[in-house]
Amino acid sequence: MILIFLGAPGSGKGTQSELISKEFSIPQISTGDILRNEVALATDLGMEAKTYMDKGELVPDDIIIKIIENRIKEKDTKKGFILDGFPRTIKQAEALDTMLQNNNLSISKVILIDVADEEIIRRLGDRRVCPNCNAVYNITYNPPKQSGTCDKCGGKLIQRNDDKEEVIVKRLSTYKENTQPLIGYYEKTKRLTVIPGDMDIKSIFNNILDELLYIP
Ligand code: AP5
Repeated sequence: MILIFLGAPGSGKGTQSELISKEFSIPQISTGDILRNEVALATDLGMEAKTYMDKGELVPDDIIIKIIENRIKEKDTKKGFILDGFPRTIKQAEALDTMLQNNNLSISKVILIDVADEEIIRRLGDRRVCPNCNAVYNITYNPPKQSGTCDKCGGKLIQRNDDKEEVIVKRLSTYKENTQPLIGYYEKTKRLTVIPGDMDIKSIFNNILDELLYIP
């Protein structure tokens, strides 16, 4: 099973990918998490990526495509994988098609989570993340048991640098300009499913599971 989660920043791609990853025991490959780990380790890649991420811009295609090419060759992807935050441009989508074709693989479903801009701004302002294990919380909708502390690893929760309101607005416009065109790209493949994202996390998860019953 090869799934792509598409959607605006804060639409819930990471939240739902994690749940689907557990349900089907296939890895969640989040380009955002991979890049943030590189930033935390202060690698050359991380330092370069940070200059784009902090401004709400996309990291250049060539860098991201290389990351995905290497990641999907790892052993844990044999049963399938979930792409969370990739592709984000037509160039990335075309590169993915080539990678999959070269390995006789194809995309099972592209799941677009559809959420209104006002709700996205609310959700991202209230998001807290664990820098140790990448767990995601929301102080209103999905709070940790103990305020400020990760339920999973006990790490201290932080607000992401790019969750400041001015950067959120820029990320939304980057999404509309660069990533929304992928909706038309994947509509043509008949693999695209739109899931309304204005429900609670569990209801969205159940709707996605229903859709996954119909993978040809
Ligand atoms: P990335 O980390 O991928 O950020 P993003 O796409 O902006 O997505 P988010 O992680 O912000 O949101 P999400 O949709 O996963 O929502 P979440 O589940 O957390 O990328 C960061 C940066 O890296 C990019 O800006 C770019 O610079 C770079 N980058 C990454 N990939 C790239 C690529 N392919 N090409 C180029 N550059 C790339 O949920 C959000 C909040 O809402 C949470 O608090 C959550 O608890 C809450 N929530 C979730 N669902 C619900 C619900 N149903 N109801 C209420 N609250 C909810």
